[in-house]
Amino acid sequence: MKPLIGKRILICGKGGSGKSSIVTLMAQVLEKKGYPVILIDGDASNPVGLLRLVTGGTVRPLPLIEFFGGREMVLCPVDDPAPLTRIDGSRALIDEPIQIDEIPSCYYIRDNNLVFFQVGKIKKAYEGCDGPMSKITRDFIVEGDFITLIDVEAGVEHFGRGIEKNVDAVLIVVNPVFESLEVAKRVYELCTSMQIEYATVILNSIRDDDTETMIRNNLTKNNIDILGSVRYSHEIFSSGLKGTAIGYCGAFEEMRNIIDTLEALYNHG
Ligand SMILES: Nc1ncnc2c1ncn2[C@@H]1O[C@H](COP(=O)(O)OP(=O)(O)O)[C@@H](O)[C@H]1O
Ligand SMILES: [Mg+2]
Repeated sequence: MKPLIGKRILICGKGGSGKSSIVTLMAQVLEKKGYPVILIDGDASNPVGLLRLVTGGTVRPLPLIEFFGGREMVLCPVDDPAPLTRIDGSRALIDEPIQIDEIPSCYYIRDNNLVFFQVGKIKKAYEGCDGPMSKITRDFIVEGDFITLIDVEAGVEHFGRGIEKNVDAVLIVVNPVFESLEVAKRVYELCTSMQIEYATVILNSIRDDDTETMIRNNLTKNNIDILGSVRYSHEIFSSGLKGTAIGYCGAFEEMRNIIDTLEALYNHG
């Protein structure tokens, strides 16, 4: 059995640090390694983001919040910590994970071994906070031998909503920006206080060895674990500029090393 099957992995970090790019690389490498991957786009503010990076497409699945009955049915976990249930109010997904065939295909995009879901997007002024989307991100657990990657928006507020409850690992993306390191330290602290099984950092967009050493020293001084690093990549930059998918590039090989390390960690318990 592949060591990462069944794991739910949350990717977080400061806005612009490269979360969606890292999730995209991870999904591509995992797929190549034969993993069935579930991707959850939990970023309620960026309308195309992850989907575009992964598939290059702009045809969006319907948001999961609609499948679960909209804001009338799904409340922010701060107001209502009860677990997400099926739309008839029965059977919480954390107790009985949902089968893909319970969900109409308009709510996801399937691309070979990858199934892509979007929790929902904020569309209108005053429609309310994105708390209900956080509940879906928190509790949307799909039955089957998948690895689940969860891409969330920037910041730490989702931790206040307990989004980390059902995750096995938190990966914090750090790019070479002071605030990115500060967010990472805060997230790491939160993970430690919430007894998350495994929290670690992925360095991203690193241009030279000196920068990498400086960031590594800073994190290590704070006892923060570093899983690996992805260099600045012209391919990723250019896909960000043109609005295209991330094609095969050197960063893919760097991500392969990172996934190998993660697999080894889980293999050795
Ligand atoms: N390793 C990298 N090399 C070059 N550019 C990158 C790299 N990672 C991310 N970027 C660029 O940085 C910007 C933010 O990346 P994105 O993945 O959308 O961040 P986030 O999801 O954290 O907001 C995008 O324009 C993206 O193309
Ligand atoms: Mg993003």
